[in-house]
Amino acid sequence: MPQHLSVEEGHLNIGGIDTTALAGAYGTPLYVTDLDRITGNYRRFRDCLSERYPQVQVLFAAKANGNLAVMQALAREGAGADVFSSGELDLALRAGMKPELLLFNGSSKSRSDLARAVEAGVRVSVDSLDELTQLDAAAAEAGKTAEIAFRVNPALEVPTHPKIATGLRTSKFGIPAEEISAAYAEALACEHIEPVGIHCHIGSQILEVEPFARAAGVMVDVAREVTDIGVRLRFVDVGGGLGIPYHHDTDPAPTPEEYAAAVMPVFLDGIAECGIDPAFWVEPGRWLVGDSSVLLVGVNSVKRAHRTFVNVDAGFNLLARPTMYDAYHEVIVANRAAEPADGTYTVAGPICETGDLLAQDRPLPAPRAGDLIAVLDAGAYGFSMSSQYNSRPRCAEVAVSGGRHALMRRAESLDDITATMTDPAPLWKR
Ligand code: LLP
Repeated sequence: MPQHLSVEEGHLNIGGIDTTALAGAYGTPLYVTDLDRITGNYRRFRDCLSERYPQVQVLFAAKANGNLAVMQALAREGAGADVFSSGELDLALRAGMKPELLLFNGSSKSRSDLARAVEAGVRVSVDSLDELTQLDAAAAEAGKTAEIAFRVNPALEVPTHPKIATGLRTSKFGIPAEEISAAYAEALACEHIEPVGIHCHIGSQILEVEPFARAAGVMVDVAREVTDIGVRLRFVDVGGGLGIPYHHDTDPAPTPEEYAAAVMPVFLDGIAECGIDPAFWVEPGRWLVGDSSVLLVGVNSVKRAHRTFVNVDAGFNLLARPTMYDAYHEVIVANRAAEPADGTYTVAGPICETGDLLAQDRPLPAPRAGDLIAVLDAGAYGFSMSSQYNSRPRCAEVAVSGGRHALMRRAESLDDITATMTDPAPLWKR
């Protein structure tokens, strides 16, 4: 169990606070996030890189957890962000992150996204030559120069779920390394564009460090090529992707220190050869926030069938990962956390789909109606991928820090679900 989780008097605690007390105070389902864990993770990640090279900037991948309080906690630490939409850009700016520490990513940006990026003065990771032309036009219209990187497609196979490997030759992201010099030459010729960086991202939940070293190798090759044609590189952004051990006992758990030891020598040798000193940018999402949160769900009923279903009050509406990627999350009966398992149980959500299972065939002490189940490591791509499917309001999020707790997002109500809808009957036009 990670350090910020503990069992006291049979109850699961997070950040020193009893989860059963939190469930009692705020109701279930409930996301609980330990902000101190996030800032601790951030400092560790940053420090082991910046020990090797001072010009390191960590850009939090905002898609992993878009709560403003999380972004604010990271902003206070000096983090920037990888933002993937105008919404994430807005969030990062509201959180107080500096525009120069943001990178607007994405393979399908709209004209308004590009205009918004130019207006905010943030750098853009350009994903195609078509987008380059549109960004040049947007910058011309605003009378500004847009600073860009191209997203490089490094054509690397990585050990992860195929849906989240993003740097394959066949994936939708980036420009092939063979075509990248031509793309930069085109960017240099644009009147309102200044190429200042290179960017890639090879995938997510990668539990080995070697693929990151290979990607860094591709990036320094690209750095050399583009430097040769006259680009003055101010940053090299290697993306995110370091995984976390969802199976606490059996998954390999590559540390940021191991990551730094694998990647930084490749980067440092490469830039020394080119005679340049760009900043090293890295975009972790999951590693910073993944283990910081638990999703607390209440047991509605238990049904013995071909296996025993423990029916709880949230499913893939609030945590899509098990259904979407067959992902594993540890579950604990939070109010009886010290009791031994007496059988195996399948934790099923309330959504009308067979795939709505949060955990399958897990050894647990027989759950009963009224028990509290904690789904661990729910801080990354948990709430941020939630939905209102089956007209279920999204739940509240509580932050804990320094032994205290407070709401960081109120629960939606049924009225919130219908608030944006209108009856078109009186509005029909001929
Ligand atoms: N940078 C870029 C450009 C990305 O697309 C991503 C994640 C990251 C950084 C952060 O990657 P991380 O350090 O969190 O692995 N919903 C999936 C994960 C999707 C990742 C998308 N891109 C999941 O729940 O596993």
